[in-house]
Amino acid sequence: MAKVLSAIQPSGDLHLGNYLGAVRQWVTSQEENDSYFFIVDLHALTLDIAPETLRSNTVKTAASLLASGLDPTKCTLFVQSHVPQHTGLTWLLECTASYGELLRMTQFKDKGKGQDSVRSGLLTYPVLMAADILLYDINFVPVGDDQKQHLELTRNLAIRFNNRYGDTFVIPEAKVPEVGARIMDLQNPTNKMSKSTATPLGTIGVMDDPSDIEKKIKKAVTDSSMLITYDRENHPGVTNLLEILSAVTDMNPLQLAEKFANYGELKKATTEAVIEALRPIRNRYYEILEEKDTLRDILKEGSEKASSVAEVTLAKARSAMGLL
Ligand code: AMP
Ligand code: TRP
Repeated sequence: MAKVLSAIQPSGDLHLGNYLGAVRQWVTSQEENDSYFFIVDLHALTLDIAPETLRSNTVKTAASLLASGLDPTKCTLFVQSHVPQHTGLTWLLECTASYGELLRMTQFKDKGKGQDSVRSGLLTYPVLMAADILLYDINFVPVGDDQKQHLELTRNLAIRFNNRYGDTFVIPEAKVPEVGARIMDLQNPTNKMSKSTATPLGTIGVMDDPSDIEKKIKKAVTDSSMLITYDRENHPGVTNLLEILSAVTDMNPLQLAEKFANYGELKKATTEAVIEALRPIRNRYYEILEEKDTLRDILKEGSEKASSVAEVTLAKARSAMGLL
């Protein structure tokens, strides 16, 4: 059985990019693999976040994952900070990583841009991510396109560690979906859809009201050519709508491009498909949020399971490096 792991930041409700690029793959993966999924609350501390916001976003993100179909009887679901081995391994890996390679990470450059003072955790963020993965002997990491560079770093750190200290870590591989790996902002289709940087009209929340989804897709930026072509470079807005429709209907985006006579038809079909795909998730989400005790028990059990697996690898790594 393959071992699969992925994680998400506690940004509250999921957006459509998170769901199509990542979480949907996780739900399928749990059926066949030994799977670990978690909420990276420690990574959230790399930017300034109010404690009460972090607390409530962590709960909401956990509820969103369960509502999307993660099943705690089929996967291990937990909160990163509840498993102390993640920070334990991070230090060991920080002493394997070089300052220069961390400076080259595009996410560090993007998130650090324009800040008066950049937290050092933002620089070492990808090392914590490498620890997240390497603790569990993982084969595959299902993520959106934006995480490929971090996965490459994780592989490099693992290979470097194994060469220097002896075979300790399994070398993981990123698994990026064919469609949906990079959903773009509806208002600014050359930027990826994201919770933090987008305009509110550009991001579809998985828990959005159907009327909001309709409004956002109706106002989505297309272009003046009136052509419906799947061409990211020259028609990014239209291509993004085709990509979304393709991901939620499992139909080929090139064939979909031939089906519609005008943007109005494409937008109408996309609106209906997105609303239908998200409706059950949204309904379950509000039920789960009502059951706070159950949610807490699920996360507690998940972190206990994760911790027992992680401890074995951490002990191996410590001893390989010569710690008594
Ligand atoms: P984050 O919210 O940054 O923690 O991302 C959680 C997961 O969603 C990661 O696997 C990302 O690669 C994926 N993801 C985030 N934004 C997008 C997007 N716009 N399109 C596709 N996948 C995304
Ligand atoms: N960096 C990832 C993101 O921003 C989140 C993450 C942290 C992650 N640790 C991970 C993803 C381990 C996959 C595996 O989306």
